[in-house]
Amino acid sequence: MARAVTVSLQKGGVGKTTIAINLAERLAARGNEVLLVDLDQQGNATEGVGLEEFYKADTHLGHVLTEDDGPDPADVIQQVQNFDVIPAHEDFDDLEDKVRNSTFGMLWLRRKVVEPLLGEKYDYIVVDAPPNLGPLSDAAMIATGNVIVPLLMSEPSVSGFERMVDQQIKPIQNEVELEILAIVPNSLSGNNEEKRIISDLEDSPFSKQLPQFARSTHFEQSDSPGPGIRDRIAFSRAWREGVPLAEYDPESDMLPRLDELAAIVERGEVASESEEAQREEVRLDG
Ligand SMILES: Nc1ncnc2c1ncn2[C@@H]1O[C@H](COP(=O)(O)OP(=O)(O)OP(=O)(O)O)[C@@H](O)[C@H]1O
Ligand SMILES: [Mg+2]
Repeated sequence: MARAVTVSLQKGGVGKTTIAINLAERLAARGNEVLLVDLDQQGNATEGVGLEEFYKADTHLGHVLTEDDGPDPADVIQQVQNFDVIPAHEDFDDLEDKVRNSTFGMLWLRRKVVEPLLGEKYDYIVVDAPPNLGPLSDAAMIATGNVIVPLLMSEPSVSGFERMVDQQIKPIQNEVELEILAIVPNSLSGNNEEKRIISDLEDSPFSKQLPQFARSTHFEQSDSPGPGIRDRIAFSRAWREGVPLAEYDPESDMLPRLDELAAIVERGEVASESEEAQREEVRLDG
C-alpha cells in the first residue's frame, strides 16, 4: 500500500533531514519507487543528496504549488541514487507566505503533488519538513497524513515534541487524518539521559510508536550498540559528500535500523515485539 510521510519536529538539528534522506534511500533499496520532497527553505536535504545546484533553479516547487497553469511536478523532479527528489529553493520564504495567505494554500501540496503521484508514479513519498511550526510544516502533515518524529535524548527535544502534539498534530487531527507513525530517538551516545527518556517514552501514550530498535531491551543486549539511531560521524560525512549513508558506508551498523524504519513505513505501524521476534527467526532460519 502506498504511503506518504512527513519527518518533522519543531526543533532544530534533531535529525529530520538525516532521517528523511536515509528513509527515502532505504525504502528505495527495498524495491519501492520513492520521492523525497525537501520543503525546508534551508535546503539541507537538497544539499545532502547532491542537488544544491537546484536551490537557485529558475523553476521550482513554489511555481508548481502556487501557479494555476504552472509547471508540472515532473518539471521539478530530479533523480539521485535510487530515488527521486523535489529540491528546495531559496525562495521558499515567499512560498511560505503564499501558503499562509491563500485560503486553500494549506492543501496545495496535497492536491498538486501527493494526490496525483502517490500510488501512481510513487509507492512512497517522504517529506523533509522545516524546523518551525509554520504553514509549510502544517501543509506537509496534511498532505502526507503520517508523521515520523526524530528526537534527541534531551529535555528540549522531548518538550518540543509535546508542544508539537498539542499545538499542531491534535488540531490537524481534528480536521483530517494524521498518524504519528514512529518516534525515532536519534544521535544517542550512551549518556544517562537516554536511559531515562527511553523509559519515559515506553511508559507514555506513545510507547506503541517506539520502534523495537529504540527500546530499553537494547541496553541489556551485549551485541547491541544500544537503542535508537546512534551517534555516528558517518551521517554527517555522508551528508557532506551529498550521498545517503548506504552509499557512504555500506557496512554501517545503523543501516539495519533505518531499514526497520522503512519497514514501519511500509507496514504503516511499528511491529510489536512478538512480530519482530518472529521476523528475526525467519531471518535466522532463512
Ligand atoms: N545519528 C547521528 N549521528 C551523528 N550525527 C548526526 C546524526 N543525526 C544527525 N546528525 C548530524 O546532526 C546535524 C543535524 O542533523 P539534521 O540536519 O538531520 O537535523 P534537522 O532536524 O534536519 O535540522 P534542521 O532543524 O536544521 O532542519 C547534521 O550535521 C547531521 O549530519
Ligand atoms: Mg533539516
